[in-house]
Amino acid sequence: MGSLKKALSMYLQRLELKNFRNYSSLEFNPQPGLNILWGANAQGKTNLLEALYLLAASKSFRVKSERELIKWGAESAEIEAQLARADGQEENLTMRWARNPLTKGWERRLCHQGQTVKKLGEFLKVLPLTLFVPGDLALIQGAPLYRRRLLDVLLCKLSPSYYLALTRYQESLRQRNKLLHKLALKVESPQPLSASQRQILEVWDLQFCEWGAKVLAERLRVLRELGRVVNEVYNFLAQSEGPRLELRYRGSLSRELLTASEVEEVALEAGLRQALEASLKRDLSLRSTQVGPHRDDFAIEAQGHNLRLFGSQGQHRSLSLALRLAEAQVMAQVRQEAPLLLLDDSFSELDPERSRLLLRYLLPWGQVFVTTAFPPRFFKELPAGQYYRVQAGEIERIDF
Ligand SMILES: Nc1ncnc2c1ncn2[C@@H]1O[C@H](COP(=O)(O)OP(=O)(O)O)[C@@H](O)[C@H]1O
Ligand SMILES: [Mg+2]
Repeated sequence: MGSLKKALSMYLQRLELKNFRNYSSLEFNPQPGLNILWGANAQGKTNLLEALYLLAASKSFRVKSERELIKWGAESAEIEAQLARADGQEENLTMRWARNPLTKGWERRLCHQGQTVKKLGEFLKVLPLTLFVPGDLALIQGAPLYRRRLLDVLLCKLSPSYYLALTRYQESLRQRNKLLHKLALKVESPQPLSASQRQILEVWDLQFCEWGAKVLAERLRVLRELGRVVNEVYNFLAQSEGPRLELRYRGSLSRELLTASEVEEVALEAGLRQALEASLKRDLSLRSTQVGPHRDDFAIEAQGHNLRLFGSQGQHRSLSLALRLAEAQVMAQVRQEAPLLLLDDSFSELDPERSRLLLRYLLPWGQVFVTTAFPPRFFKELPAGQYYRVQAGEIERIDF
């Protein structure tokens, strides 16, 4: 199974929920290794994974509005996790919501070791975690946004400096677009901009290229790593040596720049500048920036064919799973600590053979949470994990 080792580095010791979704009050003490959350529909399985994901990514993977996360009718809510690091250190992470009595809006506070965390980048690095949900089919079939998000969320967990570069880049993009909007009202395209107009634009272009090149460089590096690992995982799940998968970055820069053997930030910055220059007329007429990392994508190819267009539905499913598992492995390698692996309802989408292989793959992992509506007898070989029954916002441990 290649580089996958029993990476028992850190694990979640305790999770407490108060007024989170359908949980009024929960104390859950999972095991290292495999935790199987079993229950009928609408009992709170995905809600539990969502709580963990929030601590890792600060945002939900399901909803935009935080209000939906808080138990209906409650005035405050809390997620608290106790982590045990490999060296035995305990770490505490909390997310709390309370209603502001004046504005009536929800206010959120993030704490690490009991201290309020002000920089989101610092919060994001604490809990390494990878989540796979049925909706991840969009990684293969969906818009570029899904694939960019995979890279961005992964990189934010690998380095706070990526989070910084990404937010600076996004800010420069926002400012630049605002300015394009203003300029477009004044100039009659294709009339060139005046010297002073160019000068103002230049302020944001500089930032855009500098931070954009950092974003691009990190994405290119991590995509190479993912490309290497995804083959191992995919072949394991397929139990065969298929044609090699290539993850190919697609962006506004030349192919030579994107495929150069050494990723060079300076060259990428120059490339971005050139792309901006070439796109100015279009940017002005559309009043937004048409090139740059915010529009990029990557393709998954086999023998030169884009699998998004040529793969079968079943292949797409295995591919999306393989991509997520590859994400987890890359995180484990770079951080030297295996992330928590969360898989929501994954067995209902896989045939029994694939399910068996997936379980075999998961067993050596540090800590895993899988949810399923299938009763334990569904698993022919009962995996060596701990079962829990999830029912109406309560969790009960089941011993056989
Ligand atoms: N804010 C909320 N307050 C109370 N209950 C909620 C809230 N949001 C969702 N629920 C309930 O949670 C349940 C869905 O839980 P979920 O974890 O998605 O189920 P499943 O076990 O199928 O994964 C539903 O019964 C839904 O009504
Ligand atoms: Mg669910």
